[in-house]
Amino acid sequence: MTDRAHSVAAEPDLVIAPSLLAADFARLGDEANAVAAEADWLHVDVMDNHYVPNLTIGLPVVESLRKATPLPFDCHLMIEAPDRWAIGYAEAGAYNVTFHVETAADPIGLARDLRAAGTKAGLAIDRDTPVEPYLEILPHFDLLLIMTIKAGFGGQAFMPELLDKVRMARRHIRSGHLELRLEVDGGIDDQTIAAATDAGADTFVAGTAVYGAGDPAEAVRNLRRTALHALATNGHPLR
Ligand code: DX5
Ligand code: ZN
Repeated sequence: MTDRAHSVAAEPDLVIAPSLLAADFARLGDEANAVAAEADWLHVDVMDNHYVPNLTIGLPVVESLRKATPLPFDCHLMIEAPDRWAIGYAEAGAYNVTFHVETAADPIGLARDLRAAGTKAGLAIDRDTPVEPYLEILPHFDLLLIMTIKAGFGGQAFMPELLDKVRMARRHIRSGHLELRLEVDGGIDDQTIAAATDAGADTFVAGTAVYGAGDPAEAVRNLRRTALHALATNGHPLR
């Protein structure tokens, strides 16, 4: 039995967040709990068929799921008008609510409202959006999500060129002594997580690599081990 609480206490910097998007939607509670002993957060992809063509789950499912698993929810809203909908996810008990900068009318105001509602506030940057214009608003956020694919579907190939944005964000976070997590989402697996770690990510979403594996809990353990190995081998750009 792995004592994850112990290992997390010793290595507090990495978060592994399996994405339910790749799980069996008929068994969401069981799928969440299949990784509960190994994962740090559960990544919940909310898609509205407007900002992205795909349609996934919404607030009622998140509310029900909240009662079914102890894992903190990392809600990733790929929706239009997050200024209108995001607070509902905070009220439903999400640990973190991330919305896309491409969709928000007032990102700073929404981050303030999310924090006031008792959740962490995350800002997501999609594939075709540069990160530079948003570096100055990062102090209002607890998390920056850099997509390593185009948002909308699981199972896409990781795009290593998008790690330039991760490097730039990490440099800015370090030089400004900012306190926020730097998350990558899309195509993260045993082959790609080391490069993302080297670029400065500390929080990793993985859908297919976890729920497409025969043993999802083992897949989470392996991802963490690979990322920690990259840190130990190459040094952490964080420090
Ligand atoms: C896609 C979602 C991702 C997705 C990642 O837009 O934001 O969270 O679940 O899936 P994989 O890990 O399969 O690329
Ligand atoms: Zn996501």
